[in-house]
Amino acid sequence: MRVLVVGGGGREHALAWKIAQSPKVEKVYCAPGNAGTSNLAVNVGIAPDQVDRLLEYALEHSIGLTVVGPELPLVLGIEDQFTAKGLKVFGASKAAAQIEGSKTFSKTLMDRYGIPTPKYQVFDDPKPAREFARSRNRMVIKADGLAAGKGVFVCYSPEEALCAIDTIMEEKAFGDAGKRILVEELVEGREVSFLAFTDGKTLLPLESAQDHKRAYDGDQGPNTGGMGTYSPAPLLTPDMKDRVISEIMYPTIRGMEKEGCPYKGVLYAGLMITHDGPKVLEFNARFGDPEAQPLMMRLKSDIVPVLEACADGTLNGLKLEWSEQAAVCVVMAAEGYPGNYPKGKIIAGLDKADKQEGVAVFHAGTKSADGHTLTNGGRVLGVTALGDDIPAAIEKAYRAVATIQWDGIHYRKDIGSRVG
Ligand code: GLY
Repeated sequence: MRVLVVGGGGREHALAWKIAQSPKVEKVYCAPGNAGTSNLAVNVGIAPDQVDRLLEYALEHSIGLTVVGPELPLVLGIEDQFTAKGLKVFGASKAAAQIEGSKTFSKTLMDRYGIPTPKYQVFDDPKPAREFARSRNRMVIKADGLAAGKGVFVCYSPEEALCAIDTIMEEKAFGDAGKRILVEELVEGREVSFLAFTDGKTLLPLESAQDHKRAYDGDQGPNTGGMGTYSPAPLLTPDMKDRVISEIMYPTIRGMEKEGCPYKGVLYAGLMITHDGPKVLEFNARFGDPEAQPLMMRLKSDIVPVLEACADGTLNGLKLEWSEQAAVCVVMAAEGYPGNYPKGKIIAGLDKADKQEGVAVFHAGTKSADGHTLTNGGRVLGVTALGDDIPAAIEKAYRAVATIQWDGIHYRKDIGSRVG
């Protein structure tokens, strides 16, 4: 079978790497991919939001399964368009992807089906939003639509909140995604992610993985897409996992079915574990990045039958086998990320890092030119290592990181150190 992976980040490199190991797969394509995916797949120069062109390509190349990495093509309706032409897709339909594409959609769903989530108010006009913000001390301001992970502001004073409202609604920093905002209660606790495969009826949870969102050591600095991950995440104890499945994940997929938009694909719940139990901060309609990297390394089962079963509605009875080992992914980023950063720096030492036992270097923002691998994005590499426990995986990942150089590297030195 030919498999097309849509996207070009570290998550997509990890997915393509795992998919390429399946005996069911003859060839992997990656659109647009990166320098890393070009070593195991055919890179296709089509951007993830060019759904018509992707469809044309998939039909011409007899693609048997399309696996969608990022949220944008899902929200644009890639699953619906491909399915209408008889192509199989792993990913949510346009209607179901609203769970990530519209925060008011997901909050309304949670209210309707009793899924625990922080309290919130919705505003379409900045004036009443400001009045409301002035009456609170701490709150979270969120743009309603997709804002490339940047539309959430955690505010510790009304002044900070007013600034966030201006950025989103007046300066329109996220375009139409900020026409509507949510002002949400700021809940205390510890964050954890929970991911599960689903065909709309059955859930097959993945192992736990937790990212570090802040740019600098000690969870300081601005939020990023994720500077590193560890798996397993000890916060997700077996009891907590059972609660999340019964109180959050099943009510969500049953609610989506009742709403007429059954959810297929991978459902990612960003949770806060509070003293009242787990609460949903957000849902994503895709794998996390960089959560996918350690998860793909720990997954022993062939992923392809699971991806197909999600699309076909035949997940019931399937099981996943996981490595007992832990995995840690350290993101190596360009200096300046998540703000402005330079591109085109020559990366050295990749082969040496990749050859270390139990290590995989997943590329994100990279490209090949003139025999070199160059930086081509904010998050550049995800150096991922397996070890007998988290400290062993940390040690191995950082040993591999130390062999890689370019001019202007930034990475956190404390990935995984929250554990233990
Ligand atoms: N690492 C967070 C995300 O993928 O949304």
